[in-house]
Amino acid sequence: MKILVATEKPFAPAAVDSIREVFTEAGYELRLLEKYPSRDDLLAAVADVDALIVRSDKIDGGVMSAAPNLKIVVRAGAGYDNINLADATSHGIVVENTPGQNANAVAELVIGMMVYMARGKFNGKPGTELKGKKLGLHAYGNVPRNLARIAQGFGMEVFAADPFISAEDIEKDGVTSLDNYEAMYEMCDYVSLHLPLVDSTRRLINYRLLRTMKPGATLLNSARAEVVCEEGIKMMLAERPDFKFASDISSGISAELVERFPANVYFTPKKMGAQTKEANVNSGKAAATQIVGFFTEGDTTFKVN
Ligand code: 3PG
Repeated sequence: MKILVATEKPFAPAAVDSIREVFTEAGYELRLLEKYPSRDDLLAAVADVDALIVRSDKIDGGVMSAAPNLKIVVRAGAGYDNINLADATSHGIVVENTPGQNANAVAELVIGMMVYMARGKFNGKPGTELKGKKLGLHAYGNVPRNLARIAQGFGMEVFAADPFISAEDIEKDGVTSLDNYEAMYEMCDYVSLHLPLVDSTRRLINYRLLRTMKPGATLLNSARAEVVCEEGIKMMLAERPDFKFASDISSGISAELVERFPANVYFTPKKMGAQTKEANVNSGKAAATQIVGFFTEGDTTFKVN
């Protein structure tokens, strides 16, 4: 078997070592394509591979057509909006993700962004503390579960709204479950987004919702840029000097927002929620193990298409 790891944003070396170890033991050949400059490099590299491991790399029908032997694509991470599932299904390709493997890393980054914004981006002036503040989690998957655990350690009161998770499941973590997410935006000091990018969540966080946020509130985005309406953020920042926005994903207007509202806006230089050695090792190793399980036992536990 020929396996390609194609990562525009490379894994930590320790993760590549873990992946290699799994494939060496299985007798598979591992190929690496990191920081590739163009889509053509990816198209050439997939020509004879049986399996593909990617991160946020865009895998569409064109890539699949260029890979006639491809049977499985594993997204080493949680969100798989970068992979065209319909195209994969029509090509007979299985798509999997590795849920939960990088969740703690993303949660820790969100905590870091909260502290950074609470302390005025470390400007030396008195800021505020997280203790006693209300944190709202919009969706309650693996990242927000970890975030709730850490935030509770800071003494925060945690709320969550997720129509797909029962109130019982949320409340067993000591988190208050809310029936509607709108209420969360009105009552919380911090709202953290954990929505997958699908049609129903695109631009869901719009001006109408944002304007209900309480005075001094901060919105945190470690999910996907597209779930937030950029114009809404821009209008909020222009109208509400108390509103803050910190995001792990840049978009077309990030530079403009930082320039116009330097004290209220923060973007990481490159998406880095899952950029820890631990998360890379966990998700990379899981992806490799899932591929071996797929070829040797037909295991498709983490199939998403
Ligand atoms: C995920 O969906 O798992 C995260 O957004 C991580 O994405 P990355 O692998 O591109 O860092």
